[in-house]
Amino acid sequence: MKALVYHGPGQKAWEEVPDPKIVYPTDVIVEVDTTTICGTDLHILKGDVPAVTDGRVLGHEGVGTIIEVGQAVSKLAVGDRVIISCITSCGSCSYCHRQLPAHCLADEGASGIGWIFGHFIDGTQAEYVRVPFAESSLHKLPEGVSDNAAFPLSDILPTGFEIGVRNGRVKPGDVVAVIGAGPVGLAAMMTAGQYGASRIIAVDLDDNRVEQAKGFGATDGVNSGGAGWKDEVLAMTDGLGVDVAIEAVGLPATFQMATELVGAGGTVANVGVHGTSVELKLQDLWIKDVAITTGLVSATTTPMLLRLVAQGMITPERFVTHHFTFDSIMDAYDTFARAAETKALKVAITR
Ligand SMILES: NC(=O)c1ccc[n+]([C@@H]2O[C@H](COP(=O)([O-])OP(=O)(O)OC[C@H]3O[C@@H](n4cnc5c(N)ncnc54)[C@H](O)[C@@H]3O)[C@@H](O)[C@H]2O)c1
Ligand SMILES: [Zn+2]
Ligand SMILES: [Zn+2]
Repeated sequence: MKALVYHGPGQKAWEEVPDPKIVYPTDVIVEVDTTTICGTDLHILKGDVPAVTDGRVLGHEGVGTIIEVGQAVSKLAVGDRVIISCITSCGSCSYCHRQLPAHCLADEGASGIGWIFGHFIDGTQAEYVRVPFAESSLHKLPEGVSDNAAFPLSDILPTGFEIGVRNGRVKPGDVVAVIGAGPVGLAAMMTAGQYGASRIIAVDLDDNRVEQAKGFGATDGVNSGGAGWKDEVLAMTDGLGVDVAIEAVGLPATFQMATELVGAGGTVANVGVHGTSVELKLQDLWIKDVAITTGLVSATTTPMLLRLVAQGMITPERFVTHHFTFDSIMDAYDTFARAAETKALKVAITR
């Protein structure tokens, strides 16, 4: 088969590799129909994720069709259309039972579990992929849900929802600020409306992203490049501060912004991945009765989100700004990497 193979920092190729085979009886093989690229793949290509080594097939998102099942697989069958979750989990360890499969304790022979595709084992930017613990890591697609509506449920939709909206405890009437209107922040905006937010304020440095956010449920937008960004947001809350501030960038400055925007009794939900030490001004925050939450996506809400998609309550196909085929995946990477110019959010790559 052909696959997008990582060959060390800055090096990748769409090239011939051996077809994946069933290794464990709980595995299935999926023929990938649609895959995509995540910001994390760009980090890997910069060499920021040393666990990813030369020869690894990248990608942890996608939709496909099962072509082979292991002996222990009874709830999935050849021909099933499935969403491949970015999180692989055994379904039976103590963390899986606590609805935290991101921390699954099983080890399927790779060095760990959780986010393993395109990390510890070969991923989904390929014609075929082996899926371990398939019954607890794949979601059958109902008829009528398109690939483009489904593949954002592999990663960005559950991330924005679980770590932003659900951890942030958004409730009816809340004013929610989302800092960072990239795919993950937009996913939080798209799902915050489902929890009854009365106002969803998109905060970003990029005017185009602030504008795009209006199509994802944002009621207001603020460019945080100007000096008055904070007053602009606070003015929407009678000066009190927002009920929920969702950080979806991953920088010390944007975490700080979230803590400055949150009002008394509110929640700061951190979604961004931080690579450097971040200051927590507890001396200012303790008196505000605020909660601060963190999290790694577990994707346990994918079945619920899929029901919303099937009913047309949310429309993740809006994320797809560009279309490519497998043999033009190198162009897809180029377009996605230059998102500021190309206005790319998610690229759909199909066979
Ligand atoms: N917690 C998890 O499980 C999890 C899972 C996936 C991704 N993430 C993280 O979520 C974050 C967002 O992911 P993404 O793919 O949407 O990223 P992205 O880079 O596409 O989007 C980030 C957005 O933030 C904006 N931005 C940058 N600096 C800013 C600033 N100073 N003020 C305001 N806006 C600013 C950018 O213009 C961009 O629109 C990343 O840190 C990513 O690693 C977390
Ligand atoms: Zn991802
Ligand atoms: Zn487990």
